[in-house]
Amino acid sequence: MIEFDRVSFSYGNRFVLNDLSFSVHENERVAILGGSGDGKTTILKLIIGLLRPDSGKILIDGEDITEKTEDELRDIRIKFSMVFQDGALFDSLSVKENVAFPLREYTGMTEEEIDRKATELLRRVGLEQAVGHMPEELSGGMHRRVAIMRSMAAFEPKMFLYDEATTGLDPVSADVICKLILDISGQGGGFIIVTHKIFDAFRLANRFMFLKGGGIIFDGGRETLLGSTIPEIRIFLRELNVNHNG
Ligand SMILES: Nc1ncnc2c1ncn2[C@@H]1O[C@H](COP(=O)(O)OP(=O)(O)OP(=O)(O)O)[C@@H](O)[C@H]1O
Ligand SMILES: [Mg+2]
Repeated sequence: MIEFDRVSFSYGNRFVLNDLSFSVHENERVAILGGSGDGKTTILKLIIGLLRPDSGKILIDGEDITEKTEDELRDIRIKFSMVFQDGALFDSLSVKENVAFPLREYTGMTEEEIDRKATELLRRVGLEQAVGHMPEELSGGMHRRVAIMRSMAAFEPKMFLYDEATTGLDPVSADVICKLILDISGQGGGFIIVTHKIFDAFRLANRFMFLKGGGIIFDGGRETLLGSTIPEIRIFLRELNVNHNG
């Protein structure tokens, strides 16, 4: 579904991705790992056309999106549900209004239907008591749950993109988010999760891509990753041992 063909990208003279090629099918569960600033968020933004590459092609379902207009990109974006790193709820809207927003914006639902749907989505993640709360009153974990439900409220995305969905959460809240991600994807649904928490990546994904210095230094399954001798990867794997042994 997603194909990067020799993609390079820089922010002005800050060069981030160099000649990157990979493809991901819509039913794959991929974790993109890497250090801070290695370009993980940038990759997700390129996938949905929020950024355009300096060179190379990005194909979504075989269509080159690099030359598309904003209007044309809309049809590409609705294939994805993207949960941004900063959660980005509207501060001035209540929890329910946040989830209602895309329903109002993108569907022809009546106010009554919108209300019912938003309440139902929030009930699904245990937030029925918080419908009237403002974002600032939420814990980090609750905030993420609202953001995830909002991202999928109006569409039936083919693929979910999660940017650091569990970062900064305590282990229990992170566990709730991991379960939610697996639950939403159901049987065979795919996603890309960008993270530097290898423990959560291992819980969720079965394919791992490791980003470093503008390129992919590893792309493979669990066993190969565990056996990797690449120093940067060994450092990430140490966190896994810490988590397992207590
Ligand atoms: N709008 C921007 N303008 C200039 N530089 C940027 C911009 N956005 C990101 N960068 C830089 O580009 C690099 C890659 O950013 P990106 O956000 O993709 O990294 P990341 O891997 O997601 O990092 P993190 O783990 O901290 O989220 C970083 O060095 C960042 O400082
Ligand atoms: Mg990031």
